[in-house]
Amino acid sequence: MAVSHRSTGSVAGGILSAVGNTPLVDLASLAPVPGARVLAKLEMLNPGGSAKDRAALNMLLDKIRRGELRPGVSVVVESSSGNLAIGLAQVCRYFGLRFVCVVDARTTEHNVAILRAYRASIEIVTEKDPETGAYLPARLRRVRELVENTPNAYWPNQYANPLNAQAQEQTMREISTALDGRVDYLFCATSSCGTVRGCSDYVRRHGLPTVVVAVDAAGSQIFGQDRKAGNRLIPGYGSAFRPPLLEQDTVDEVVHVSDLDCVVACRRLMEQEAMLVGGSSGATVAAMAAMRDRIAPGATCVAIFPDGGDRYLDTIYSDSWVAEHFGDVASLWTDPRTALEMV
Ligand SMILES: Cc1ncc(COP(=O)(O)O)c(C=O)c1O
Repeated sequence: MAVSHRSTGSVAGGILSAVGNTPLVDLASLAPVPGARVLAKLEMLNPGGSAKDRAALNMLLDKIRRGELRPGVSVVVESSSGNLAIGLAQVCRYFGLRFVCVVDARTTEHNVAILRAYRASIEIVTEKDPETGAYLPARLRRVRELVENTPNAYWPNQYANPLNAQAQEQTMREISTALDGRVDYLFCATSSCGTVRGCSDYVRRHGLPTVVVAVDAAGSQIFGQDRKAGNRLIPGYGSAFRPPLLEQDTVDEVVHVSDLDCVVACRRLMEQEAMLVGGSSGATVAAMAAMRDRIAPGATCVAIFPDGGDRYLDTIYSDSWVAEHFGDVASLWTDPRTALEMV
């Protein structure tokens, strides 16, 4: 299919023009303290289904405009088993670029099927890195090999690419504009740290009074290799290393959320707000509850919800999966007396 007609003007066209400007909704039942206001930024409503659509588009668009990435010639290679992969697959399909996605054995069949539908090529890494016991270093090694051996290959490298973070400054601009700059707390799940870095850069540059809270998975190594590395069940947030995008003063607070608290918060969002959200969205709500002793009545808290729950139907929203990993815990979200008491 010829794609040379694609507009690469100041705004990407077609489906890509729907990236960004996501809704910000009030979630009254989640107020961590009386009088506080909680809002969620619904990033699952981006066209590829997640916050990472913004990063995918921003990391490629400039190079496409400048002719450095060319339809039918260039090959984009990236390591991602989830949302960034889907975002890149969409942008690459739109512009007629080949996309090789390096995933690992834990990548869900659902995500692989989406990637194949966008006609991405899939490279599956099956062996963990022997030194760290994690897949990520092994995946990054495979990316480097592919880039070296593939003519016209380009690796966006989400972990170190400033354009990943820059894309998310727009997210914070949208939040701040909607609330006239009155954001007391921002809860932001972390992996490459593009989202938290971009939002934090915007907050600092505009002198907003916002406390930037990074929400990480228990067992993740982002905020210190000295923390015990652990097996993490919920994909999407957390990382086996500290990404270069994270700088010393990027975040004001860090909250680590266990897999169980993450699941309970997701299930509770379904019970109380009829929202089918991804794991890291639940984690931001669990983090807000964990910090409630420090949140003033009347504070405005914003949580970024990176993706939707349809990518977690076999895990977080599967009763048998939950029972297998945590036992009989359903009362934690069905019993109204336990509301917001679990962290
Ligand atoms: C579901 C989900 N939540 C949170 C994040 C973290 O975002 P970032 O990579 O910008 O730190 C990601 C990143 O892929 C994600 O897929």
